Amino acid sequence: MKISFLSFLMLFQIVSYGQRTYQNFNPGKIWEDNQGVHINAHGGGFLIHDDTYYWFGEHKIAGKEGNKAQVGVSVYSSKDLYNWKNEGIALEVHDDPNSLLVKGCIIERPKVIYNHKTGKFVMWFHHELKDQGYKAAMTGLALSDHVTGPYRYIKSVNPHAGQWPANYPDSLKSKPVNLDEIERWSKEWKEAVVDGIFVRRDFERGQMARDMTLFVDDDGKAYHFHSSEENQTLHIAELTEDYLDFSGNYTRVLHGQQNEAPAVFKKDGKYYMFSSGLTGWNPNPGKSAVADHPLGPWTPLGNPCIGTEDEMNTTFWSQSTYVIPVIDKKNAFIFVGDRWTPDNPIDGRYILLPVEFEAGKPVLRWYEQWDLTFFDKK
Ligand code: DGJ
Repeated sequence: MKISFLSFLMLFQIVSYGQRTYQNFNPGKIWEDNQGVHINAHGGGFLIHDDTYYWFGEHKIAGKEGNKAQVGVSVYSSKDLYNWKNEGIALEVHDDPNSLLVKGCIIERPKVIYNHKTGKFVMWFHHELKDQGYKAAMTGLALSDHVTGPYRYIKSVNPHAGQWPANYPDSLKSKPVNLDEIERWSKEWKEAVVDGIFVRRDFERGQMARDMTLFVDDDGKAYHFHSSEENQTLHIAELTEDYLDFSGNYTRVLHGQQNEAPAVFKKDGKYYMFSSGLTGWNPNPGKSAVADHPLGPWTPLGNPCIGTEDEMNTTFWSQSTYVIPVIDKKNAFIFVGDRWTPDNPIDGRYILLPVEFEAGKPVLRWYEQWDLTFFDKK
């Protein structure tokens, strides 16, 4: 049998490092890192820095306890988006029971952005406190001088205590918060939700912030998108110049439409968002929306998925988490979604699919295997 020099080299690499080299995306399959281990970065956020992609995500362990943060936030790096090097744990949970970031809390959907003015890497993440389920609904902040960390935990907050959303009408501000008197899911309840009853309820303590993402605009302004108001309405908040706080300027968008898992990108001056509905870890029909400004107003564009009924009803069995702009390729964007496996979260899979545009709308189709040359054909 003849073995070419190249095959010999690849074989040598596999035998000596256990490392597989990828030349394409295989959505939903086991995806090995440079150590031959399935990538462990769920609910991921991606950062491009110095021509390198960084993938931050929830580190999960096996078994149901893996749904809580036992280790922290992991980080991987890649030059080509196919092959990822494990860069370790960017943000570690604490052993100190007095720290809010104590082992056993919940850390979800970590996102990192770089602040050019301060030279700091800023991480925000959905944070739930230990033994409190999803009650706290906070957003946490951590900071580092180095992209791969270590990140230092700074604080967790319910944003905007004592501040009204910019688009909250004066006429609603003094309306009663009579939640106990309205039957849940009744017409009155839904109207009250759309009217922002939860904004009034949470006005003093600060608003709820669950599923989240960050988006940095071309002018350097950063925005924190999060599911608020019991996941019924999205809040979009401008961050301060150093990205370490909320500026106080925020809006409520897609009122009462139950958006989770927001993922935002910009193309030709317009802002697009993918999101999911409210079904826990189970997939649901994806959603999309467009706006002329990150703070909205946002116009729904419907389910972006094109495929079989099953694929459209489940977003290819995933929930959105991020949209990666491809380096050096104009208008090339990759949808990233999670296939959650809450019984054994470490086994969760990743769905990467090219974002296509049809009639001004972003659409997603299933490709069993694809690579970046996809964008050259467009
Ligand atoms: C759906 C969210 O998108 C996930 O991040 C996670 O919070 C689960 N819900 C928990 O049920």
